[in-house]
This record gives sequence, C-alpha cells and structure tokens, in this order.
Amino acid sequence: MSISGPPFSQYLWQCAQSPEEKPGTFFPDWAYNLKAFIPGAIVAVDKRSNLKHCHATVVTDISLCCGLGEDELCKALSTFKHPRREGEWMGDDPGRLLLEFSEAVRGYISVSRLTRVLPCSPARVLIVNETVSYRRLAKTQVGKVDGVLEIGSSFGECTQILTKHAAAVIGIDNSQELVEESRRRYPFCRIELLNCFQDPLQLQRLCSQLQDRCENFKIFVDIGGERSSTAVCRILVLLDEVVRGSLCAPCLVVVKCKSLSAAAAASCDERATICNLLDWWHRCAAPTSTRQQRKWGISREHG
Ligand SMILES: C[S@@+](CC[C@H](N)C(=O)[O-])C[C@H]1O[C@@H](n2cnc3c(N)ncnc32)[C@H](O)[C@@H]1O
Repeated sequence: MSISGPPFSQYLWQCAQSPEEKPGTFFPDWAYNLKAFIPGAIVAVDKRSNLKHCHATVVTDISLCCGLGEDELCKALSTFKHPRREGEWMGDDPGRLLLEFSEAVRGYISVSRLTRVLPCSPARVLIVNETVSYRRLAKTQVGKVDGVLEIGSSFGECTQILTKHAAAVIGIDNSQELVEESRRRYPFCRIELLNCFQDPLQLQRLCSQLQDRCENFKIFVDIGGERSSTAVCRILVLLDEVVRGSLCAPCLVVVKCKSLSAAAAASCDERATICNLLDWWHRCAAPTSTRQQRKWGISREHG
C-alpha cells in the first residue's frame, strides 16, 4: 500500500510550537492567533490554576482604542505586558478589556490573563512540540459546549484538565496499567482501554458518543512526543476515516509530536501555516526504515 494524501485535507494545518520554543510558549508567527481580541471573540480567562478558567465574550472594541489594524493589533497584544496592578479600575484601554461572562455579568480583565479561543471555522490541525503547551491548549481551547477525545491519556493528567472544562471527555490509552492508575487517580474522568490501531470500530463508537452529545468536537493526540511521525500520521489518517461524513466533524485537532513539530516549523509560511501540505505530508508519513514499512504496511512511494 502506498501513502495516501493528507487526512483533514480541508483543515488549516499550523505549526503552533516549533522545537525552538520554551515549554509553554508558542511559535511567534502563530501565537498572535491567541491574542486576536476582536469584539465577539470568545476568550479563556486565566484563574491561575490548570483546573480553573472560564470563557467570556469580548465586548470592548479595542481596535477603536489604539487605531491599529487587526493583524498589527494582535501582534502588539501578544507581547503586551500591563504594568498596573490586578483589580485596579481602568475603563476601556488597550491593557484591559470589557468582557461579558453571562448576560448579567461584565467586568474589565487584563489582557495578560486572556487567551483567545480559536473559532471553529476554519477547522485546524495544530502541531506542538511538548507537553506544557499541549496542556495549555487543553486548558484554554476547550469549554462547556465541547466534547473532547484524548488519545494517549497516560496517567490522566491532561484528561482531568479537559474534564474540568469540557461538556464530555473520553481519554483512551493502550496500557492497562496506566488506564487503571489514571482511573484510580481521577475517578471523575472517563478513561477507556483501547489501542486505536487495533479497534477502529470502538474508536468510532467513542467518537460518536461525544459527537452526539456536544455542540463541538475536539481531539487531542499525544501518543508520546518521541514517537516517529509515521505512527502519529497513521493515527491522524485513522481519525479522519473514523469521523469522515459525520455531522459533527472535529473543529480542532491538537497533535503533540517532536518530529512533526520540527517538520512543520521548517515548512510553514509567515502565518505558521504549512505550505504545500501534500508534499509535506508525504515526507512526514513515509516510513523511515524497512521495519516501519513492514509494521505499517506502506511503501515510501507517494499515493
Ligand atoms: C506521553 S503519554 C501522554 C501524556 C498525556 N497527554 C498527558 O499530558 O498527561 C503517551 C501515551 O500514549 C499511549 N499510547 C501509545 N500508543 C497508543 C495507541 N496506539 N493507542 C492508545 N494509546 C496509545 C501510551 O500508552 C502513553 O500512555
């Protein structure tokens, strides 16, 4: 069998973090996406804990405040540090934004505590290099209307973060020991024993359960940052097959993989979007050894 074209081919594939970035930080060409605080944007408000945050809607038209275009504004805000103390009333200014938490509750919050929740359209595949940034996305990009699948739940650390924020979450792992331990540590989380390569039908059933119950569907994939990009690419192909044609397609797929992050950083444009996705995919998905070729049953030829 030869390598087929990229899965999620209509999605925006972006390098959210290159191997150069410090843990917990994002690729500068991409990071401004998280600071696009235009009116109506949903933002996650940091409450200084991995397990707490809330989403709110931006009310202030900040572009009127400082006269910058949207792109310039987002770049400026991504490096903005507000000098004043927390809790100080300032009114409308570029350092604080008026947010609406619910119909009756509004308040001014420092931009340094806000992360934009990426809109569901365009749908994206985001590639990160390490765990802190992966979990930062889990913490900020998931809210009360989302169903989330995490592949590679391990001890359940990230699954519990997702569970605190989303409407419904299923973590899966292929290690019985880790599944038992994570269930013991986080009894409120749903964690299933599953090797997604061996039981795609069960993977499909779990996806459907989340898709049926929630407004949006999001997927986080971390089967080990050091794993070859071939293995991670196989999971993405499988996921695409499993969810294709469903009414609630995933609007966000976050992938943690060191080799994919390096390959994405080397092939993206100034907006951190991977250029020439087809070629890039064939390079990443190709087995790097004959052993891998046998394991995945694919040749290095382009499909
Ligand atoms: C690095 S850990 C994930 C850590 C987790 N994302 C977190 O932030 O706490 C990778 C996990 O992927 C699991 N894994 C590897 N291949 C898998 C597969 N085919 N199906 C399900 N889980 C898999 C491993 O057992 C391991 O626990």
